[in-house]
This record gives sequence, structure tokens and C-alpha cells, in this order.
Amino acid sequence: MTDIFDIEGRSILVAGAGGIGAGIAGELARRGAKLTIADVDEAAIDRVRDELPGDGHSACTLNITDEDSCASTVAQAVANGGRLDGVLNAVGILRIASALELPIKDFTASMNINVTGALLIARQAGKVMIDQGGGRIVTLASVSSTVANPNYAAYASSKAALTQLTRVLAVEWAKHQVAVNAIGPAVVPTPMSNPFMTDPEYRAYQMSHIPMGRMATVEDLFGTALLLLSPAGAFITGQTIYVDGGRTLV
Ligand SMILES: NC(=O)c1ccc[n+]([C@@H]2O[C@H](COP(=O)([O-])OP(=O)(O)OC[C@H]3O[C@@H](n4cnc5c(N)ncnc54)[C@H](O)[C@@H]3O)[C@@H](O)[C@H]2O)c1
Repeated sequence: MTDIFDIEGRSILVAGAGGIGAGIAGELARRGAKLTIADVDEAAIDRVRDELPGDGHSACTLNITDEDSCASTVAQAVANGGRLDGVLNAVGILRIASALELPIKDFTASMNINVTGALLIARQAGKVMIDQGGGRIVTLASVSSTVANPNYAAYASSKAALTQLTRVLAVEWAKHQVAVNAIGPAVVPTPMSNPFMTDPEYRAYQMSHIPMGRMATVEDLFGTALLLLSPAGAFITGQTIYVDGGRTLV
């Protein structure tokens, strides 16, 4: 019987070697994908690549806000895997402050990294995928693409824009069989969220808004990532799939 979730041998670029990127990369590698790991943090890419199961993975320094850097990262992924079947973009920053106090540089950085960067890496990958006749692009959005948490002006604005960017890229590239989707998690313990979750007030607010009564885990995201990168997801495009224990329902 054909395994519709089979990704063995697929060449996948994982941009973002933080908590979520590294976790999903491990699962993709366990299932036989050939990965290129890219991040601005050079120590992280080497560490994550060296811990991956299987052979033939590569690591690459990436500044996602620089189009030349995105182009050379995509080129390295193609050189490493012989083609580019998928991109998982788990790069992002979280800046939290009330709208009255938010430094505008934090708002600008959030838009640059979370939105402009998502466009730059997607369009460099999209060019390759259009030429080769198809591919998959998956970006990490957030429940903040749709819910309005206080103090989230920078992050929520960027994630809402990312969700709409996903829809536009999907409609532009559908005829080339390039599917573009996003995963929208509720809060997941990672280096991004951990500093905030130690604040009891922040933690209580977050937990009281998740109907299933717990945070997401990186493992909770594996199934959706696999769906969107495997044959099973071939006809899904333009979607943000929330993996959130009901956070976007309340
Ligand atoms: N952790 C959560 O609670 C949560 C929830 C919903 C969505 N997300 C999203 O998931 C994605 C991954 O988050 P995470 O929790 O793994 O965060 P993380 O901080 O652990 O990882 C983010 C990575 O992005 C990298 N990065 C930052 N700027 C970069 C740049 N200019 N170029 C290249 N790399 C850069 C960092 O070095 C880091 O390794 C983000 O888009 C985040 O917004 C996270």
C-alpha cells in the first residue's frame, strides 16, 4: 500500500533552527527527508544538522531579510538535495509591548523578519519549484494571525500579514503545482516563548485562553507539517491550519 505521508528522499529546506524548526527537522529527517538547515545563528545550524538522523544533510547561514542570502540558501538546498521539494520556514521573532510603548524598531523588525523575510525565501524557492514543476512551501504563522492578544501589535500584525501573503502566493503559483500554506500554533515552549512564560501573569492569560488547557508541543506540529510536505497534502493550498487546542475558537 502506498504511504501518502511518505517523504523519504524529499529535499527540504528548513529555515529557522530554533525550537520549532529543529523539532520538525528531526521528524522530517527520521522519515528519510534530505534537509538543509538554515538560520542566522551559525552555532544553531551546525548543532541541529549534526543531531539529525540519517546522512546527507547540510547547513547554511541565512539572513532571511536579505534576498541574496535567501537565494544562496535555496541554491545550497538544491545542490544538496538535487532539487527542492519543500520549504519549512520557521524563522521568526516575537516582540511584546503595549502599543503605546512599543519601540517602532521592534514593529519594523517584526515586519521585516516575519513578513518580508517570508516573501523573500518563498519567492526564491518558488522560482525553483515553478521551473521543476511543483513544490511545497510551509511557513509558521500563529494563532496571532487571527486572535488579538493585548501587547501583540507587532507580532499579530506580522502574522496576520503572513497569513494573507500565504493566500496570495498560493493563488499566484497554483497553476505551477506549488502549494503554499502556513501552520498556526498556539503557544509552544521554545526559546522564543520561554522568557515570557516565566511571567505568571502572562502564563495565566495564555493558559486561560486555550480550551484544551495546555500549551502546544513541538510534537503537536509534526502531523500538520508532514501533511503539508507529503503527497497527502497535494491539493491543499493557501491555508493556515491552526494547531491550537481551540485557542482560535474563543
Ligand atoms: N513558540 C511559540 O509559542 C510559537 C507559537 C506560534 C508560532 N510560532 C512561530 O514559529 C516560528 C518558530 O518559532 P520558535 O518558537 O521556534 O522560535 P525560536 O526563537 O526558537 O526560533 C526562531 C529562529 O529564527 C531565527 N532567526 C531570527 N531572525 C532571523 C533572520 N533574520 N534570518 C534567519 N533566521 C533568523 C533565530 O535565530 C531562531 O533560531 C516563528 O515564526 C514563530 O513566530 C511560535
